Amino acid sequence: MKNVITLGVETSCDETSIAIVKNGREVLTNRISSQIDLHKKFGGVVPEVASRKHIETIDYILDDALNEAKLSLNDIDNIAVTYGPGLVGALLVGLSYAKALSFALDKPLIGVNHIEGHISANYIEYPDLKPPFVCLIVSGGHSHLVYIKDYGKYEILGRTRDDAAGEAFDKIARAMNLGYPGGPIIDDLAKKGNEDAIDFPRSYLEEDSFDFSFSGLKSAVLNYLNSMKQKGEDIVVEDVCASFQNAVIEVLVDKTVKLANMKNSKIIAIAGGVASNSGLRELMKKKAGEYNIEVKYPSRLLCTDNAAMIASAGYYNYINNKYSDLSLNAVPNLKL
Ligand code: KG4
Ligand code: ZN
Repeated sequence: MKNVITLGVETSCDETSIAIVKNGREVLTNRISSQIDLHKKFGGVVPEVASRKHIETIDYILDDALNEAKLSLNDIDNIAVTYGPGLVGALLVGLSYAKALSFALDKPLIGVNHIEGHISANYIEYPDLKPPFVCLIVSGGHSHLVYIKDYGKYEILGRTRDDAAGEAFDKIARAMNLGYPGGPIIDDLAKKGNEDAIDFPRSYLEEDSFDFSFSGLKSAVLNYLNSMKQKGEDIVVEDVCASFQNAVIEVLVDKTVKLANMKNSKIIAIAGGVASNSGLRELMKKKAGEYNIEVKYPSRLLCTDNAAMIASAGYYNYINNKYSDLSLNAVPNLKL
């Protein structure tokens, strides 16, 4: 079969990214411009600021990508773009850009679900990885537990009922004035703390449920911080981070391993920003290893938002004839 060169475009949140990927797996370039420094002072992503920055940046990112891959626009076979979920204004920048390219080059447009992109990051990291497998997707906006039956075919068994896992990390970090985004900071501090220091609640919900809930844990940590302050006692930040992180990851790991056993899957993949978490990676490998289940996760760069994962997911849509047309609109709350 002829090589397929996919241009990926991702602007769903605070990263402007364009990638070029060959046959869904081989990254020729993955240019990412992060806006984190711009949003840091606000303690979170400001949607209007994000949209404007995407507009200013996207042309340069395309030039960078083509230069790095030593390709011209004529070498591109199709254009894959995130159309949801995400911030509507931010999504619209990438989507309009991709539509214009598709129209001007007369090449197919392929709409990609951002969550599907996160899953596909594992296809890039592991060129031999094929469905079926169990995947835990945990990021700033989503927490899903999914059985991947085939490319583009998902059985969603669990999702969060309130906060996403990354959101919980960010909110707890904010309450302790640790900075933004909170996940990597808590991850580092947790390494120096005692995970048994504070007994925060683990929310397993109903016995047979694969759903998650992090709002109870979040309240418990906030109550702990307030009561320590009121009593005038010292807060050991490292211990709070370690105990909080452990309460999150134990539930994520237990439910994922339980699902893998239920599905007789010998592979668990993790994806999304929180898949960078060192505690989650280690505990998942330990618990899954007890059942001879292999654990896969993308490199840290591929865990956070990037366009290579979107191009990879777009490639599988393309070979399954799932094209979009120029009427494709941004869907901020798009489901998997
Ligand atoms: O996938 P992503 O870049 O964006 C979304 O689609 O949401 O994920 C960003 C989220 C943030 O909440 C961030 O705090 C979290 O991933 N994160 C981490 C780590 N690195 C990033 N959470 C825990 N531990 C980390 N090492
Ligand atoms: Zn994401």
